[in-house]
Amino acid sequence: MMGELDLSVEIAGIRFPNPVWVASGCFNYGREFAHLYPLRELGAICTKGTAPEPWVGNPGVRMAETPAGMLNAIGLMNPGVDHYLRVDGPWLRAQGVKIVVNIVGRTVEEYVRVAERLTPEVADAVELNISCPNVKEGGLAFGTSPRATYGVTAAVRRATSLPLFVKLSPNVTDITELARAAEAAGADGLTLINTLLGMAIDIRRRRPVLDNVFGGLSGPAIKPIALRMVWQVVGAVRIPVVGIGGIATAQDALEFLMAGARAVQVGTACFANPRAPLEIIAGIRQFMAENGIRRVTELIGAARPAGEAALGNLPPLGAGGADGGHGPFPGYGPGGDLPARSDSPAPTPLRRPEARHPDPGPRAGEALRQWLKDADRA
Ligand SMILES: Cc1cc2nc3c(=O)[nH]c(=O)nc-3n(C[C@H](O)[C@H](O)[C@H](O)COP(=O)(O)O)c2cc1C
Repeated sequence: MMGELDLSVEIAGIRFPNPVWVASGCFNYGREFAHLYPLRELGAICTKGTAPEPWVGNPGVRMAETPAGMLNAIGLMNPGVDHYLRVDGPWLRAQGVKIVVNIVGRTVEEYVRVAERLTPEVADAVELNISCPNVKEGGLAFGTSPRATYGVTAAVRRATSLPLFVKLSPNVTDITELARAAEAAGADGLTLINTLLGMAIDIRRRRPVLDNVFGGLSGPAIKPIALRMVWQVVGAVRIPVVGIGGIATAQDALEFLMAGARAVQVGTACFANPRAPLEIIAGIRQFMAENGIRRVTELIGAARPAGEAALGNLPPLGAGGADGGHGPFPGYGPGGDLPARSDSPAPTPLRRPEARHPDPGPRAGEALRQWLKDADRA
């Protein structure tokens, strides 16, 4: 018989009750789900992308089903930050759930205008959706350019002292470049992935199904890609990573945690089964009980090779650390509850992730310059 299981995780200075959040755009601001279960049972809610003014979104057909997921081209329809501050923010706060406000903009200034309005009364953290088209750069998404990613992250970093997550786009060649740019600009954590660009054609009408032609693919089809990207990013940065993409079961969530994500977000699965996040939490709990794991943090990064620990992206470490003195890689060295793997080399000394810095300041600028130099050389 095991004592109490601890599912809580600490990320960017916030303690979340469990590592299962709901993803932006798939849970609106929570009201539609609140009659089903208390929202405080979730690890956190990521709100619908919120803009400085109300956005009406795209016209016409905006969703299409695919064999293992869906395409959407909603166009980030949302009621705007004023409405959030007056109506949904205070209501969400009263639900006792951790709130991550997802913010959107068409220019850097628009993102800043939302971020600077958010206070701890209505937000525990900000999640920057950088998959939006940058109207000043010909509509290219911020998140496809390291320079634009750095620019918007640094500007929002200066505009808020709330913990800042940057949500990465998968529609890039090397996601680790974007991850490093966001880290250099002062992000406290990264969430990934957003949707993958796709399309569908109606063969009878001989036209694209979506009026926008292209849409974002989400759901089970994207899980292996998301998992691969999370694995890569965890190995490339020192800040925490939250995994998103096709997560529908506890098995899916555990894979992301073992890849090194400190939490996961459930998106499309909520449409088919609004209870999916709770079932995932229950499944993680069951897995822990069956495998003699007391703290969920013991699973984070468990699938990664020993020695990788030195690369960063670690849960807080050591005695007195948030994981209660258990190493982040149980079975790969001393400290875990599982028997040590006989083939594991001596554990590499671990470094703590750097503290949050509210202003990216010259240090971040220097990091970007160095990073650009390295990128030019490569
Ligand atoms: C209908 C819909 C709306 C979405 N709206 C947003 C949004 O406003 N902001 C955002 O950052 N991501 C948005 N996303 C992306 C999801 O949060 C998530 O990153 C993506 O769907 C992959 O996860 P999943 O496969 O679990 O759905 C949206 C996704 C869907 C399906």
